[in-house]
Amino acid sequence: VNEKALPARAGIVGAGQAGAALGHGLVRAGVNVVAVMSRTGRSAESLAAALGARAVADLGAVGASAELVVLAVPDDVLAGVAAALPARYGHKVLHCSGAVGMEVLDPARDAGASVGVLHPVTPLVPPAAPETLAGKPMGIEAAGDPGWIVALACALGGVPVSLAGVDRPLYHAAAAMSANLVVAMCATAVEVFERAGLSRDDAETLVGSLVTATARNVATRGPVAALTGPVRRGDAEVLDRHIKALARLEPDVLAAYKAASRRILAIMPEGEAKQRSSSVLGVAGR
Ligand SMILES: NC(=O)c1ccc[n+]([C@@H]2O[C@H](COP(=O)([O-])OP(=O)(O)OC[C@H]3O[C@@H](n4cnc5c(N)ncnc54)[C@H](OP(=O)(O)O)[C@@H]3O)[C@@H](O)[C@H]2O)c1
Repeated sequence: VNEKALPARAGIVGAGQAGAALGHGLVRAGVNVVAVMSRTGRSAESLAAALGARAVADLGAVGASAELVVLAVPDDVLAGVAAALPARYGHKVLHCSGAVGMEVLDPARDAGASVGVLHPVTPLVPPAAPETLAGKPMGIEAAGDPGWIVALACALGGVPVSLAGVDRPLYHAAAAMSANLVVAMCATAVEVFERAGLSRDDAETLVGSLVTATARNVATRGPVAALTGPVRRGDAEVLDRHIKALARLEPDVLAAYKAASRRILAIMPEGEAKQRSSSVLGVAGR
């Protein structure tokens, strides 16, 4: 078995968002995706048709036709699916979860397969396209020599980041903060704009523009240099007015605003602005 060579034939288990992105990425990389298996035949057939693969009904058929098996099922069922996969020497089996460690692949490893994790660190929403994963970081880990999984991440156009020795729950929580939690804040901002009297369309336009510019600033300058707003300036009266206005809405909205504002205080340089904002936010300024 040439550990570094790309596998010729791949199978996807779980025809959801990650399965589709990885399937398209593999085809783009020149890997023949031969089999797609999912909980429902409909999902499997639809992704298989898009990838030029065959929809198969069970894990045995995936293992029989593919050298590389990509497990892209929900995290909660991953261990059960991995244990049921009839893996053998010559197989490469990976899962793409940031939240779950490599130990769920022990049954495949014990059966002689090379096992690893390839976690695309990017929000995957439909529709998946061949270039969806290109240029994206990918958390990787392998039992033994990680050469094959590095080669695979690179072939997918990704930028490998080692997860060896990384605290996975913290790693995955940080990924959620940079993606899902930003979405939660944006969705809340749309609602608050609407409560202020803007139309839904205008609210979404403003939020989209602000978050795009903010993300660009964070990516190019880092989070501290990207900070703007009343907490950073120490505009205590404005901050006080925000808090009073938000207190009229659902309690979670004000709680989220205050919690995020306290996180701004935590990264702000010491000084008068920080002290003024701290006093309004009920945090002892240092
Ligand atoms: N979405 C992302 O942004 C993202 C990013 C990086 C990593 N991941 C990881 O990718 C994995 C899948 O997440 P996802 O977002 O792609 O989830 P998803 O869109 O919900 O897709 C999961 C797929 O798994 C199938 N499935 C469920 N139980 C199954 C079983 N017992 N056997 C076979 N197939 C089964 C479902 O089938 P049916 O459609 O047939 O019901 C569904 O298509 C997770 O480990 C997740 O952490 C996701």
